[in-house]
Amino acid sequence: MSQQFDVLVIGAGPGGYVAAIRAAQLGLKTGCVDEFKNKVGEASLGGTCLNVGCIPSKALLESSENYERAEHKFAAHGITVSGLKFDVGQMLARKDGIVTKLTQGIAYLFKKNKVASLHGHGKILGRENDLWQVEVSDGEKKEVVQSRHVILATGSRPRNFAHAEIDNKLILDNTGALEIPEIPKRLGVIGAGVIGLEMGSVWKRLGSDVTLLEAAPVFLMAADEAVAREANRIFTRDLGLKIQIGITIQSVKASKKDVKVVWTDAEGKENTSVFDKLIVCVGRQPNIDGLLADGLELRMTERGFVDTNAFGQTSLPNIWAVGDVAPGPMLAHKASEEGSAVAERIAGQQPHLDFECIPWVIYTSPEIAWVGKTEQALKAEGIAYKKGQFPFSPNGRALGLGELGGFVKMLACAKTDRILGVHIIGPFASELIAEAVVAMEFKASSDDIARIIHAHPSLSEAIHEAALGCEKRGVHS
Ligand code: FAD
Ligand code: NAI
Repeated sequence: MSQQFDVLVIGAGPGGYVAAIRAAQLGLKTGCVDEFKNKVGEASLGGTCLNVGCIPSKALLESSENYERAEHKFAAHGITVSGLKFDVGQMLARKDGIVTKLTQGIAYLFKKNKVASLHGHGKILGRENDLWQVEVSDGEKKEVVQSRHVILATGSRPRNFAHAEIDNKLILDNTGALEIPEIPKRLGVIGAGVIGLEMGSVWKRLGSDVTLLEAAPVFLMAADEAVAREANRIFTRDLGLKIQIGITIQSVKASKKDVKVVWTDAEGKENTSVFDKLIVCVGRQPNIDGLLADGLELRMTERGFVDTNAFGQTSLPNIWAVGDVAPGPMLAHKASEEGSAVAERIAGQQPHLDFECIPWVIYTSPEIAWVGKTEQALKAEGIAYKKGQFPFSPNGRALGLGELGGFVKMLACAKTDRILGVHIIGPFASELIAEAVVAMEFKASSDDIARIIHAHPSLSEAIHEAALGCEKRGVHS
C-alpha cells in the first residue's frame, strides 16, 4: 500500500520545511519531498536558503568583513596586525560547517515532529477520489504517494542568461559564487541586485577588483532613492566596487582562463572587460519543471509563478503554493510565514499575513534594510507624508563601532501620523529594522516611536531621532 498523507509538501526550503513542521504540529499526517543534493551528492534539506543562499552567503560576508576590519579598521583602535593572511579554504570550510549544522537540524526537526522525509523529485500525477497522487522519483527508484493536500514549495533557480552558459568554473551562478577556491584578481558581476552586491562585497573585501554591470538605469531600484544614493556613494567610494548602470551586455565569451564581456554603456559606447571569474545574478525564476503531469492545468501568473489567492490557494482544489514559486518577494522569511499560514489554514485556522510589512535586508556593509513604502512610491501614489531622517554619524554607539555611514529615514502619513515606511542604511540595519516592522504591524504612529524610551547608547536611538524628526523636533539634529 502506498503511503498516504493529510499534507504532502513538495520542497524542503524555508517555505516547505516550515509548512511541514507546522502541519505536523497541528496533528496532520505530513510528508515532505525534496530532491536537493549537496556537492558531495547527499540529500540535504533546507532548500536554496540553507544550502546555497542566505546562510552560506552570510557566513562568507562575515568572514570577509572580519578580514577587512583587521586590514583597514583595527588601526584606528590602536590594534596593529602584522602578517595578516587570508585562507580561502578555511573560510569555505567554515561556511560548509554552518550549512551542514543547519541542514542536519532540519532533518532532526522533521524526526522530532514526525514529518516523513522523502528524497526525490515530486510530480503530481492527478487526483483519485479526494487524494492527490504524487510520484516521488530518485533515479531508478519510483514510488507513488497519496495526499489530501499538496503544498508546492519548490522555490526558484537562477534565471536563464541568454549570453552565457553557467559552468560554475569561470561563469558562476549563486552556487559557484559561494565556492570560488581562490581570490580572483578580476571579478565581473552581471546584475547589481541583491546577490551581486552581497557576493561582490565578499570578494572585493578579500582583494578582487570587482566590476558590477547592471542593466537598469537606476541603482537599487527597489530601495528608497536616498538609500540607494548613499549606498552607491559608499560602495564605490569606500569599498571600491566599480558599478556601471544602464549597460547592455553584447556578448560573453569564456576562454580557458578568463571571460571576455563586451558591453555598451548608458551612452551606447562599447566596452570590453576581461575577468578571471564572472558571476551572473540577473534574478531568479520559479521551479516548476516536471512538477505536473501532462494535462494537469494549474493557473500560472504572466511571469510564470504559480497563481495563488491571499491564502496561498492555487486554481486546483487542495493544492497550495508558498515561497519563491508563488508571487511576491523572493525572501526566506516570506516563504516561511506563508508555509506556516497555509498549514494552519489546512488545519481549519484563520491566519493572517500582512504582506505590506515584509522587511527587506541587503547584507552589505553598511547594511540596508527597509519595510513599507519608499518616498518615491508615496509621491507616485499621491500620498501626503512627512519625513524624519537621522544620520548615524553623531550616534554614540555608531561612533564606538566606527561605523558612521548611513541614516534612518522614517515616512509617516501627513494626516494620521501612521508610519508608512522605514528605510535604514547603516550598521546592523538587519536587526534595527525589526522595531520598524513591529511598529508598522501594530499600526504605530511616528509619535508612538518618539515617545518610546530607547536604550542609550544604542543604534536604535537613530530610529528614535528619525521619529522625532517627523514632527521636526529632533533633539540631536
Ligand atoms: P527554496 O529554498 O528554493 O527550496 C525549494 C526546494 O524544493 C529546493 O530544495 C529544491 O531542490 C526543491 N524542489 C524543487 N522542485 C522540486 C520537486 N519537483 N520535487 C522535489 N523537490 C523539489 N532570502 C532572504 O530572506 N535573506 C537572505 O539573506 C537571502 N539570501 C540569499 C542569497 C542567495 C545567494 C540566494 C540565491 C537567495 C537568497 N535569499 C535570501 C532568497 C531565499 O533563499 C529564498 O527566498 C528562499 O530560499 C525561498 O524558499 P522556498 O522554500 O520557497 O524555496
Ligand atoms: P535581483 O532581482 O536582486 O537583481 C538582479 C539584477 O540583475 C537586477 O538589478 C536587474 O536589473 C539586473 N539584470 C537583469 N538582467 C540583466 C542583464 N541582462 N544585464 C545586466 N543586468 C541585468 O536578483 P538576484 O540578485 O539574482 O537575487 C535573486 C533574488 O534572491 C532577489 O531578488 C532576492 O529576492 C533574493 N535574495 C535575497 C537576499 C537578501 O534578502 N539579503 C540576498 C540574495 C538574494
